[in-house]
Formats: sequence, C-alpha cells, structure tokens
Amino acid sequence: MTDFIALPFYDLFHENGHVPGIRMSLPPLLTGVRRSILEIGAGSGLITTSLADWTPAEIFALEPSAGMRGMLLSRLSARPELLKRVTVLPCDALSMNLAEPVEAMVMINVMYALEPDYRKRLWPVLAAQLEPGGLLVFTWRDGGPPAPRPLHELDSRQVGRHTYTALSEILESEEESCKARYLYRITEDDRVVSEEEIVGHAYRPTWKTIEGELVGAGFVQVDAPEGLLAWRLV
Ligand SMILES: C[S@@+](CC[C@H](N)C(=O)[O-])C[C@H]1O[C@@H](n2cnc3c(N)ncnc32)[C@H](O)[C@@H]1O
Repeated sequence: MTDFIALPFYDLFHENGHVPGIRMSLPPLLTGVRRSILEIGAGSGLITTSLADWTPAEIFALEPSAGMRGMLLSRLSARPELLKRVTVLPCDALSMNLAEPVEAMVMINVMYALEPDYRKRLWPVLAAQLEPGGLLVFTWRDGGPPAPRPLHELDSRQVGRHTYTALSEILESEEESCKARYLYRITEDDRVVSEEEIVGHAYRPTWKTIEGELVGAGFVQVDAPEGLLAWRLV
C-alpha cells in the first residue's frame, strides 16, 4: 500500500483539490441516510465533517494512518458538537469489525492505494458490514492509469516565507496500474528547505474489472454523478 501523501501538504493542497467537487456531487446520493455512515480512508477529515453536516447519521471514520488521524482529530476538536457523533476507527478497511451493519459507506480518493488483491478481498468484507439495501459510494475514473510523463508541478502554495510545491512523474504505466514518483518540496527564494520523495504504485481498475468485482460481491449499480460510482447491496 503506497500513500503518496506528505502529511504537512495534505490540507494545503486538497482543500481546494477534489474536495469542492465532492461536496457538490456527494450530498444528493446521501439523501435519506439517517442512521449510520462508514467513511473508509477518512484522511484528515475534509469529507468527514461535511458528512456530519449533510446527514444526522452516526459516522465511523476509518483511517489507518496515525498522521492523518491526528489531523482528523484536530478537525473534530474544532467542532466539539461532532465529538459525540463521530467515531474514529484506527485500522485499515480489511481489518474493520463494526458492532452492527451500517446504512451507507463512502470511500473518497482511496481506490488508487488499494492493491488489486486487497481490493478484491475488500468488497465482500464491505458487503458483510452493510445493511441489506445499503449504499456504497466511491470515487472512480474511467480510462485506466496515466501514460508515463516527466516530472511536472501539480500545485504550489505560499505559506509565510516558504513555498510548498508538489510535483509528480509517471515512471511506468500498465493496464490497471502505474508507478509514480512524487516530490514534496519546501523552498525559500531559491533555497530548498526540505524535500520528500515518495515512489510507489497507484491502481486504476477498468470499468470491466470494477463491475465484475462489485456484482460478484452482491452489489447492483445505481445512478451517480460523474466521478462517483454508487452501488446498493442486493
Ligand atoms: C487521498 S487520501 C483521501 C482522504 C479523504 N478521503 C479525502 O478525500 O480527503 C487516501 C486515504 O486513504 C487511506 N487508505 C489507504 N489505504 C487504505 C486502506 N487499505 N484502508 C483504509 N484507508 C486507506 C490513506 O491513509 C489516506 O488517508
């Protein structure tokens, strides 16, 4: 499991990255959800607090990374009214063991980190912990992995005297995965203050693969806006 995220950069770049789009497209899918939501790979909680704002449901925010959980708990601490309603689960998705099935599951920008064998084993585990007729929503993009491309800048933000820059390079590409290199650089004028390199594989299953896995685990597809897939447990 590779995580391409340098923790100090996460909110800086993602608050304005995928989050605004998800905050537009996800709420209509959750209309009517009232009892419980499991969020898989909750990260720093950028979506978690929105789930709590959109629905009255109890929320289980599952996040294996201690660094991400630290940010998530800071975010929850800033919203004390949510502390009774959100439980943070410190484990990965395959290791979870909920006390009772949930009404809905949400997994935003996590699929890329799941190795194919792990992902195949995950769907039946989710099905076993979802209520009959329950909803599973996750982000997915068609078109497979990106082709190899040289290092280029993804985004850059100023923080005081420092510039935080994220760069990425696609080293190799296969049918459903690619090997990527990320550089997280902090500079002051032309001087590099720090630099972190992360190299690993990212996974982009095709539609045929995803459909086969989900149908095989007992799900049927329902309508969802562009960028999201929604499924109900039969
Ligand atoms: C790009 S972040 C997305 C965080 C959050 N969902 C958001 O949209 O801001 C991916 C998250 O998935 C988590 N993750 C990676 N592998 C996981 C696994 N096997 N089970 C659960 N979470 C996982 C990572 O720790 C990371 O926090």
